[in-house]
Amino acid sequence: RALAPSRGPHVVITAGPTREALDPVRYLSNHSSGKMGYALAAAAVAQGARVTLISGPVGLPTPQGVTRIDVESAVQMHTEALRLAPDAALFIGCAAVADYRSASPAEHKLKKQEDSDTLTLTLIKNPDIIAEVAALPADSRPLVVGFAAETQQIERYAADKLARKNLDMIVANDVSQAGLGFGSDENAALLLWRTATGIEQRSEPPQPKTQLAQGIVRQALTLLSV
Ligand code: C5P
Repeated sequence: RALAPSRGPHVVITAGPTREALDPVRYLSNHSSGKMGYALAAAAVAQGARVTLISGPVGLPTPQGVTRIDVESAVQMHTEALRLAPDAALFIGCAAVADYRSASPAEHKLKKQEDSDTLTLTLIKNPDIIAEVAALPADSRPLVVGFAAETQQIERYAADKLARKNLDMIVANDVSQAGLGFGSDENAALLLWRTATGIEQRSEPPQPKTQLAQGIVRQALTLLSV
């Protein structure tokens, strides 16, 4: 059954990994499954939002009612995010964006070199997509929610990232906990958000990503309404 077009706030979400080409047949990437971002998209639709999902390459079906834009590289994701963000009320950066890309992707397949046992790749920094969205002028800046995967001092690093990237809210997870996070169906998180007087936080216990996503979207939409 088709969902009626929503009149709710426009929510733009990035999800999944990015792929950074080395040559026409090889790339650098990471193990992001996209599950958390897709769960956020489904949760936002369920809570009445109009949702655009900017997705890196993942093997997941598009949630009902979601407009999906497929990208491969961080540069492509950056282009789509900056095109759509000024129209959004809420931007959630859940993608595991590669920090670097090849400085000069080869036009033809790289050949194995017979005269050397080493190969040196030069990488250059990718744009920080969420930081650029958060730096948009006030009249076109959505509320911005980021993610932080940490292995220690979760709260401190998350608060640092919230400030450094000028985010409104951050979802921090402890990726050192077995069975949670990357590739898993479950996750736990610490939510930190700005208020007029400082930072508030809430700890979400281990739970299915679909359920955690509902709590994150609910908190973000609450911030949007204050
Ligand atoms: O700095 P770090 O990669 O830990 O920050 C994670 C957050 O920043 C996530 O919300 C991620 O989607 C976003 N990010 C981004 N563009 C990048 C790197 C990270 O939007 N190039």
